[in-house]
Amino acid sequence: MAKRDVSRRDFLAGTAALGATAMMPNLAFGQTSETMKVGVIGCGGRGRDAAINAIDAAPGVEIVALGDAFADRTQQAADVIKQYREKNFKAPKDQLFSGIDAYQKVLQCDVDYVILATPPAFRPQHLEAAIKAGKHVFMEKPVAVDGEGILKVFEISDLAKSKGLAIVAGTQRRHEAQYLETIKRIQDGAIGDVVSMRCYWNQGGLWSVNRTPEMSDLEWQLRNWLYFTWLSGDHIVEQHIHNIDVCMWASGRVPQAAVGLGGRQTRTAEVFGHIYDHFSVEFDMGDEVRIHSYSRQQDGTVSNVSEFIQGTKGNSNAANRIWGENAYRFDGEKENPYMVEHRNLINGIRSGNVLNEGRQVAESTLAAIMGRFACYTGQRVTREQVLATKGMVPSNLEWGMELPVPEVCMPGKTKIEDFS
Ligand SMILES: NC(=O)c1ccc[n+]([C@@H]2O[C@H](COP(=O)([O-])OP(=O)(O)OC[C@H]3O[C@@H](n4cnc5c(N)ncnc54)[C@H](O)[C@@H]3O)[C@@H](O)[C@H]2O)c1
Repeated sequence: MAKRDVSRRDFLAGTAALGATAMMPNLAFGQTSETMKVGVIGCGGRGRDAAINAIDAAPGVEIVALGDAFADRTQQAADVIKQYREKNFKAPKDQLFSGIDAYQKVLQCDVDYVILATPPAFRPQHLEAAIKAGKHVFMEKPVAVDGEGILKVFEISDLAKSKGLAIVAGTQRRHEAQYLETIKRIQDGAIGDVVSMRCYWNQGGLWSVNRTPEMSDLEWQLRNWLYFTWLSGDHIVEQHIHNIDVCMWASGRVPQAAVGLGGRQTRTAEVFGHIYDHFSVEFDMGDEVRIHSYSRQQDGTVSNVSEFIQGTKGNSNAANRIWGENAYRFDGEKENPYMVEHRNLINGIRSGNVLNEGRQVAESTLAAIMGRFACYTGQRVTREQVLATKGMVPSNLEWGMELPVPEVCMPGKTKIEDFS
């Protein structure tokens, strides 16, 4: 695969285009009764809820096909969507798919767009298949777990552009009026030059799935995917990407390197696989601008999910406040950003002016992966080193295959070359 690079200018151009479109109200073409057929790939909490968000986003949306690795998950999602939005649930029994190849079956159905909401490991493969099948895409963040996956998403995002297909990503703050208004002011100079940023996703532990005797290695890891780096990217990628993305958006900068420290203090049980439970990363954004990023999943610790942008003339929380000579507080209408992102996607499709957030979300995913590798290795890790890392997803997944749990990465011993 050819390596492609993204310049800061490309990143800013994508951001500006999105800002303009995402701030549009529900336009006249959103009111059309024309049917929009939607398929769901990955029918867990987010896939199911995103289907409901899509139904609520615009008239004429129908959920016509669902696919998941596990039949029980497909059926549960179908039941819930039907229960809450019966009128819009149009998936016949023979369009409820299961298996590792369920995504291909959903894509063979007559769908206008697909929701990609499996664990991020599969996003590059599913995105490629969807765009090659001529479907518009809503894809959850993060969009890869390794450099090879990021390069694939760059490539396919460009292919989507050339085919006029939409890609909207589940970085929902980018569709939230309070963030859009505040960050527009930052970009227009309200706090002067951005000199430093902080961001946090600190909270307690998440759900986990204990292994039962009948579960194969693959079934257990897929059902308990948060705790395996090849599936989730680790929690800095899976969760904290949102906050890193906001800092990148506000500053218009892309990290070139990262240093950090992290580890696994409270997560020692088998059920927690091999991921870390805390990360602290300093991202080098160029010109001595840094992001200080903190992410933690440890029970009984203080929570904080936020961002802070420091400028030469003032400060901002990026979400709704600016302090300093251009003080500002957002007091506009608040809408559910999980719904608005689908409204923007659908409006774009119906107007022929499609959004493409593929490269942008791949950049933010890449940054989070860089932070992870910096902590896993204890070394300064660059953007180029991340892009050279090979795919972590085992090829030819089969239910009976052996998938030993990898060792926990050890700073000072683990090397970035181990992943290249
Ligand atoms: N934007 C947000 O705020 C937000 C919130 C939650 C989750 N997410 C993202 O959404 C995605 C899904 O998270 P979730 O909370 O719904 O997890 P989940 O575990 O509830 O759902 C994931 C589903 O994918 C299925 N799956 C696994 N491998 C598959 C494969 N190869 N093919 C088809 N199906 C497969 C699983 O069986 C499961 O049903 C993740 O990327 C997560 O980071 C985003």
